[in-house]
Amino acid sequence: MEKEDLQIFIEWVNKPEVFGVYNPLHQMSKTEVEKMLENPYDFQTFIIERKDGSKIGFIAHFHVLHLGTGTKQLEIGYSLVPSERGKGYCSEAIQIMVDYLFLSKDITRIQAQTDQRNLASQRVLEKAGFKKEGTLRRNFFIRGEWTDDYIYSIIRDEWREPKILTKTT
Ligand SMILES: CC(C)(COP(=O)(O)OP(=O)(O)OC[C@H]1O[C@@H](n2cnc3c(N)ncnc32)[C@H](O)[C@@H]1OP(=O)(O)O)[C@@H](O)C(=O)NCCC(=O)NCCS
Repeated sequence: MEKEDLQIFIEWVNKPEVFGVYNPLHQMSKTEVEKMLENPYDFQTFIIERKDGSKIGFIAHFHVLHLGTGTKQLEIGYSLVPSERGKGYCSEAIQIMVDYLFLSKDITRIQAQTDQRNLASQRVLEKAGFKKEGTLRRNFFIRGEWTDDYIYSIIRDEWREPKILTKTT
């Protein structure tokens, strides 16, 4: 994500249609988004672009906090604009992200959380090799009700080798 992407990213994070019906409603000011993006070590965002350069969504990774334990795991999150869903773009983006993270970072595990009703999100994770580990009960309060999430993960041993990106060193 570059500075020039900031405006479209702010529009997306403030649009419930982009985040979908299974994410909590929230609003962020430009200042808050800038602050969030200031620390790339904790939260790094990538814009998903089609080959023609049009920007259609984002995928991000961030640390799972277990303070002081030296844990080596990251979590990912993603959203596409509604008109570009169902075309395989997010499956490809997740696969590239998994390759990138295992190739470039000393981590053992990547995880993702998704609402139990979010079948598209579960499918893209499974296509990228993630396995369902369990249920996070009453994980979010969304549109007036508590919701349960599934937690998924892929570990380095299962990934074994890059599927899309190639190792250059
Ligand atoms: C979840 C999301 C990112 C998926 O991205 P996408 O580019 O549309 O996904 P893909 O096209 O790569 O794959 C979707 C898969 O889910 C399947 N799918 C989609 N809707 C489905 C449904 N209601 N029931 C079952 N399967 C479904 C598709 O058939 C496809 O699987 P297939 O390739 O085996 O046919 C996108 O729908 C989105 O942005 N949703 C709103 C935000 C969101 O929920 N983000 C995730 C939060 S955890």
